[in-house]
Formats: sequence, structure tokens, C-alpha cells
Amino acid sequence: MIEMRTVYVNGDYVSENEARVSIFDRGFLMADGVYEVVSVLGGKLVDFEGHMVRLGRSLSALNMERPEAMDDLLEIHRELVARNGIVEGLIYLQVTRGNPGDRDFHYPPDGTAPTLVLFTQAKPGMIDSQLARRGARVISVPDMRWGRRDIKTVQLLYPSMAKMMAQAAGVDDAWMIEDGHVTEGTSNNAYIIKNGRIITRALSHDILHGITRAAVLRFAREAQMEVEERSFTLDEVKEADEAFYTSASAFVTSVVEIDGDMIGAGAPGPIAARLRDIYIEESLKAAI
Ligand code: PDD
Repeated sequence: MIEMRTVYVNGDYVSENEARVSIFDRGFLMADGVYEVVSVLGGKLVDFEGHMVRLGRSLSALNMERPEAMDDLLEIHRELVARNGIVEGLIYLQVTRGNPGDRDFHYPPDGTAPTLVLFTQAKPGMIDSQLARRGARVISVPDMRWGRRDIKTVQLLYPSMAKMMAQAAGVDDAWMIEDGHVTEGTSNNAYIIKNGRIITRALSHDILHGITRAAVLRFAREAQMEVEERSFTLDEVKEADEAFYTSASAFVTSVVEIDGDMIGAGAPGPIAARLRDIYIEESLKAAI
């Protein structure tokens, strides 16, 4: 028997095969929607507050109405974790500008209800990940996304294309390059380590302001590691001692190869490994 998840759609908890959204939904027709991904460890939510603050920022940046259930999101997340028995995994949340009843480039009139959906993804083995143990291999690809990557929109066609380019090249992921510098990974923030310094691009419209990034940089500074927020080039990646990426689903994952060139020793390095351990340990402690 196929196990059906319970998902949340506009106020209702329903079986995933009964969940319905209109074909006129702006998320479907215009990619006019924003999302968040919160990880679940030990049945609890990691960095929940940070993700909800960023959701608020994404909505404001697009002048999108807040869903009525905005104040109930913690309860909804917890209910989905409980109903689906999630111990290790993710909760995906999406808000769109709703269903105007027809296709139109203009935004619908004020008062059109936004669409809110949430669902769970069980991911046993997220902590003890094989990819993290062996380290990811990546290729570089041009960054062809729009200019407001700080807004977490559902316009994910180019990142999907980049993942497919990586797959076709027989590697795990892609890092995106703009003006000779790395912006970020397809679905993660990018870092190198050189002479003990952790280097990652500064926050701007060019990258998503990762919630995991903020936590990892805080832990790094607390552990007296040196952090430099600046852009770095593809050559710097190739000459780095270590490289890694962060996201809610990958935590801290080492990158051991780019475009066929080995990074450092070609295996997960000690600093990235330590950051991963600290991040997971602290996240388990602070999860709600
Ligand atoms: N991706 N950069 C991009 C382009 C991302 O899509 C993500 C997250 C991140 C990391 O952000 P955070 O640490 O807040 O997860 C950086 C999610 C996990 C996804 O799309 O599935």
C-alpha cells in the first residue's frame, strides 16, 4: 500500500491525493509564489523562527498578502510533523498570490486570498549523510537567474536546469558564476576555506540569505574561527584548502571537486567537518 501523506492546503489537513489548488493559481501560471524549507531533526523544527522571518521578508518584497494563518504556522508545522510521524526530514511551505479566476499579468485585486500549502518530506539519514561523508563534486555554470535572488521565490527553473547539467556531467551539484565570482550553489550557499579563514559571499540581492548560513557563521565566530564575507573566484575555489555549502537540507556539506579539479586533499576537510558537527549538535539542542 502506498503511504499517503497528510498535507495542509488553505486551512485544511487533507490526504495528499485530495489536495486541490486552482489551475488559475498565480503560483502555477506565473511562478508568483515564495517558499521556505524547514528541517526536522529528532521530530523538532530547526531554525524555525529564522525561516518565518525570511518568509515575511519575501512576502513584503513582492507586496504579497500574508496568509490568514500566518500566526498559526508553528502549530501547522508541528501538526504536520505529528500527523506524518516525521523524525528526520523537511517541511515545505509555499505561499502564492492566489487564484484571481483567470490569467492576467496584473496582480489580482486586494483581498484575493493567497494560497498556502505545506507538506512534509521524510528524509531518514539526513544527519548521517553519505554525500557529506564522501564530499560533493560540483561543476561551475553561469548564473542566469534574475536579480532578486534574496527573495525565496518558486522560480526554480534555472536551478533545476543547473542540477540537470550537473547530473549530465556525472557530479552532484553546480556552483553558479557571475562576473567571474561564485554567487551560490543551485540550492545552497557556497564557501571556501583558505589558511583557516572561512570565506563566503556577502549578503546582497545576488544570493539567498541562507538561514543555515547565518547560524553556521555565528557558530564559526563563537568557535574563534575567522570569517571573511566577500566574493571569491573559481580559481580561488580550485586553490582552496577546503570548500563546502550550507542549506536547511544539507546542513554543512563539503565540496571536494570543481570542474574535475580536486579541492584541497579531495576529501572532506577538518574545518568543514567540525562546522557540520557543531551545526547539527547546536540545531538538535535548539530545535523546537
Ligand atoms: N534551498 N541558496 C539558494 C539558492 C537556496 O535555494 C537555498 C535553500 C539556500 C540555503 O538557504 P537555507 O540555509 O535558508 O536553507 C541558499 C532550499 C533548501 C531548497 O530550495 O530546497
